[in-house]
Amino acid sequence: MVEFPKSFFFGSATSATQCEGAHTAYDKGADIWDLWYEQEPFKFHDEIGPGTTSTFYEHYQSDIQLLKATGHNSFRTSISWSRLFPKGYGEINEDAVRFYKDVFQELKANGIEPFVNLYHFDMPAALQEIGGWENRQVVAYYQAYAKTCFTLFHEEVKHWFTFNEPIVHVECGYLSCYHYPCKVDPKAAVQVAYHTALASALAIREYHKIDKEGKIGIVLNLTPAYPRSDHPADVKAATIAELFANKSFLDPSVKGEYDPMLVEIIRKHDLMPTYTQEDLQVIKENRVDFLGVNYYQPVRVCAKANMPNPDAPFTPEYYFDRYEMPGRKMNPYRGWEIYPKGIYDIAMNIRDNYGNIEWMITENGMGVENEERFRKDGRIEDDYRIAFFKDHLTWLAKGIKEGSHCIGYHVWTFIDCWSWLNAYKNRYGLVELNLATQERIIKKSGRWFKELAEHHGFE
Ligand code: BG6
Repeated sequence: MVEFPKSFFFGSATSATQCEGAHTAYDKGADIWDLWYEQEPFKFHDEIGPGTTSTFYEHYQSDIQLLKATGHNSFRTSISWSRLFPKGYGEINEDAVRFYKDVFQELKANGIEPFVNLYHFDMPAALQEIGGWENRQVVAYYQAYAKTCFTLFHEEVKHWFTFNEPIVHVECGYLSCYHYPCKVDPKAAVQVAYHTALASALAIREYHKIDKEGKIGIVLNLTPAYPRSDHPADVKAATIAELFANKSFLDPSVKGEYDPMLVEIIRKHDLMPTYTQEDLQVIKENRVDFLGVNYYQPVRVCAKANMPNPDAPFTPEYYFDRYEMPGRKMNPYRGWEIYPKGIYDIAMNIRDNYGNIEWMITENGMGVENEERFRKDGRIEDDYRIAFFKDHLTWLAKGIKEGSHCIGYHVWTFIDCWSWLNAYKNRYGLVELNLATQERIIKKSGRWFKELAEHHGFE
């Protein structure tokens, strides 16, 4: 039997943009996804934009019943900044206040602990117009937004996150063009990363002033970097990959400071952001109470085969090549590596190098293209997903047994959801969403998840 503590949080995660719908209704302001879709709809898979979702805004009550039916004792979603503040600051949208209050109360009334995240890639369009995270003023607007959320909802919500996967809006928005504003500008990327870490610390400071009972953390997508071999050049490549992918946010969030090696590299490439000593003090003094970890797959790296082009815009891959390890197990339906032991390695890393801080898995899941091919007698028979969960949970339980302080496991995701440029390309849900009819059908994995949560483990 693979077992978890009785108090363990079992649930799933989603985000406002990916499930709410009503993206131009009820006085919501536009965010960067609305803006980008309006400008370049062809960039989105099947040209499906953020208006096409499972319409949680209108159907949250019945969806919360489905959460219960699939065994959830907890659930993460996010607040849409541009729904609460259509312009990002200033006048508040009362309909949004009512909606979020209702959702959190309904969750609690049904025995489901709400975990609430403040920012999931969704900059208000009005603030992007003034430079988004590049602009220091936006940090102040975020701080005010965070403070408002804590003031409004602190009685219902006792688990908060400041950001989801901040490295993603840095990399995808400013290095690789998978997110708006789709720039390739390493200097801006570093400034954005720094402002985000500062914004997170400022929000934590606000929260601790308002509520002493609850907890606030950050959700990071930790990606263990494994070297091709024990050769020092390969090991160094992996060390540097970890610096950028993981430590860039993990260290300021948990330790209150940046790794000196990361700072040295940033300085060497003349990418240092504009910063102040006071900011660094804020980051030092306002660390997370707990940590959310999203884990999907590791990265495998090796020393560079060729000299990097010194004239190309800097990316972390200046220092390493990616390495396709022969025989690694792949998800045949989405093209990502499946490596369940990665979750254990993360557990050990947190235990040994981050003060054994309390943490939880905030996303883990298996995306599948064309999942309807697995329908049998009316429902999706996703045995591959159940096997994926079991393998990861087995390694997680081992990590907990060895002393890592993990308090929960949230899968990505509850109902198949819209996913940024990928839209509905990869389905991850415990529950299938029929986009044409809005019908929800619990997949085999949803039924299995209920058993898992009820028994706090599985045979
Ligand atoms: C996570 C994000 O990293 O990956 C989610 O937090 C996203 O927002 C999920 O939907 C799956 O991404 P994709 O590209 O496989 O649909």
